[in-house]
Amino acid sequence: MALERTFAIIKPDAVGRGLTGEILSRIHKAGFAIVAIKSMRLTKEEAGGFYAVHKARPFFGELTDFMSSGKIVALVLEGEGAIAKWRDTMGATDPAKAAPGTIRRDLGTSIGSNCTHGSDAPDTAAFEIGYFFAGLDLI
Ligand code: RTP
Ligand code: MG
Repeated sequence: MALERTFAIIKPDAVGRGLTGEILSRIHKAGFAIVAIKSMRLTKEEAGGFYAVHKARPFFGELTDFMSSGKIVALVLEGEGAIAKWRDTMGATDPAKAAPGTIRRDLGTSIGSNCTHGSDAPDTAAFEIGYFFAGLDLI
C-alpha cells in the first residue's frame, strides 16, 4: 500500500459539542500523521465551493448552511492507504448505518450532523487539500 494524504474536516456539530479532542485522539490511535491542521469558519459560499460536486442535490442548501454554521477543524492526514483508512475510521455517511466503533456511529447524531468529512478518492483528496492549504503548509 502506498503512503497517501487525505483531507479531513471535524464538522461544526462535533466542534460545537466539544468533540475535537476525542476525534483527534481517534486520529492518532488509528496511526495517522497530522501534516497540517487549522481551526476556521467557512462562509456559505466557501462551503459551496468545497461541496460543489453536490450542487444539484436537494440537500445542498442545508449542507452549506450547516458547514458554515460554526468553526471547523481542517486537517491533512498521512498514512499507508490514508484515503480508504480515514473513510473506514469515520464510518458510513448515516451514523445509524455506520459500523460500531466508527466516529460517525459513536458520535454522530444524523446524516447531516455526522461529525467528520473525508476525501473519497485521490483526485478529490488533491482538490480538497489544495482548497484549504498552501504548499508551504504541507512540507
Ligand atoms: P463527506 O463528503 O462529508 O465526507 O460525506 P460522505 O462522503 O460520506 O457523503 P456525501 O455523499 O459526500 O455527502 C456529503 C454530506 O452531505 C450530507 N448529506 N445529507 N440529507 C441527505 O440525504 C444527505 N446526504 C448527504 C452529509 O452530511 C454528508 O456527509
Ligand atoms: Mg463526500
